[in-house]
Amino acid sequence: MHILVCGGAGYIGSHACVELAARGHQVVIADSFVNSSPRVLQRLQTLVGAPLACHRVDLRDRGAVEGLFTGQRFDAVVHFAALKAVGESCQRPLDYFDNNIAGTIHLLQAMQAHGVHRLVFSSSATVYGDPDAVPVREDAPLRVTNPYGRTKLVMEQLIGDLCASDPGFHAVNLRYFNPVGAHPSGLIGEAPGGVPNNLMPYVCQVAVGQRDRLAVFGGDWPTVDGTGVRDYIHVVDLARAHADALDFLVREGRSANINLGTGRGTSVLELVRAFERASGRMVAYDIVARRAGDVAEVYADPSLAHALLGWHAEHDIDAMCRDAWRWQSNNPRGYEDGAVDADAAGGAPVDAALSR
Ligand code: UFG
Repeated sequence: MHILVCGGAGYIGSHACVELAARGHQVVIADSFVNSSPRVLQRLQTLVGAPLACHRVDLRDRGAVEGLFTGQRFDAVVHFAALKAVGESCQRPLDYFDNNIAGTIHLLQAMQAHGVHRLVFSSSATVYGDPDAVPVREDAPLRVTNPYGRTKLVMEQLIGDLCASDPGFHAVNLRYFNPVGAHPSGLIGEAPGGVPNNLMPYVCQVAVGQRDRLAVFGGDWPTVDGTGVRDYIHVVDLARAHADALDFLVREGRSANINLGTGRGTSVLELVRAFERASGRMVAYDIVARRAGDVAEVYADPSLAHALLGWHAEHDIDAMCRDAWRWQSNNPRGYEDGAVDADAAGGAPVDAALSR
């Protein structure tokens, strides 16, 4: 299939591009590069064995989005392009509404205008807020606690309304739990700008010596060891589910909301210990006050993903830590590490891979 991957240069999007290309799909990336690096394109070329077409497009630019579909026929769209920092969304809610919601509307309008009626959407377990029970099933109540989460829920609802209005349009909303890890090659991974918001990249930066100590947010949660419990999922497993979701859309021609997690909870301190084993480095930490808005324990019931997609997570927390560490130690400054680029690229300069 010919697949448009919006946000394909980002952390999860880049891993999905590798998986889609490996399954023989023709991938076209659209990315604004506001939260990603064009250098990822060289790495993707190395992994895929051929350059991927890429358009620099901001989904807020309706004309540019329309332009993506002009002169190119797509069979499906995979939509990752969104701002995703919870704290930042509380400071700049309008930017989040504009970027995430308006951008998605433009994308859906262009898809409808051009008769593209299959969508895989990058949603989040954030739509469950603080769940009443774990493991979390897809029919759990939806309630969000911050502007970022609200944008994900509204995007799901917009997509649902479109599916209801147009019997030919089908979408799979994939609700990710906590994506971590990196491609086992060490060539692509998560490269947050500034101070990481999330646990795994912060642990990586402590282990590599860029930050002194991890602050563990709360040691008094009602969990196995008092620290927060989450369902960490390897980004390569996550990427695979997107290709499986496309197959589902083609095969079954219906829509679905699907959790993507391992079904296992891991505490902050369990993750720290697993990371120390994988890296051979100490991760110094202090237990500090709880972070506002956090919850004690969230993990998925992933059985629907298995039933509908035939998917289940294959990597455990040790593999997640091992691959996160390989990425971090090979690329201490993320995609800014030119030396690795020079090794990996072996091809055209980055900008040559950008067609506009
Ligand atoms: N944590 C720390 N120290 C840190 C960072 C995190 O102790 O420096 C703890 C948190 O308190 C939590 C766990 O590590 O217990 C995981 O925190 P993350 O920030 O990595 O992930 P969250 O579960 O808070 O949030 C993630 C995504 C959100 C998404 C949510 C969905 O970041 O975008 O999962 O459940 F909405």
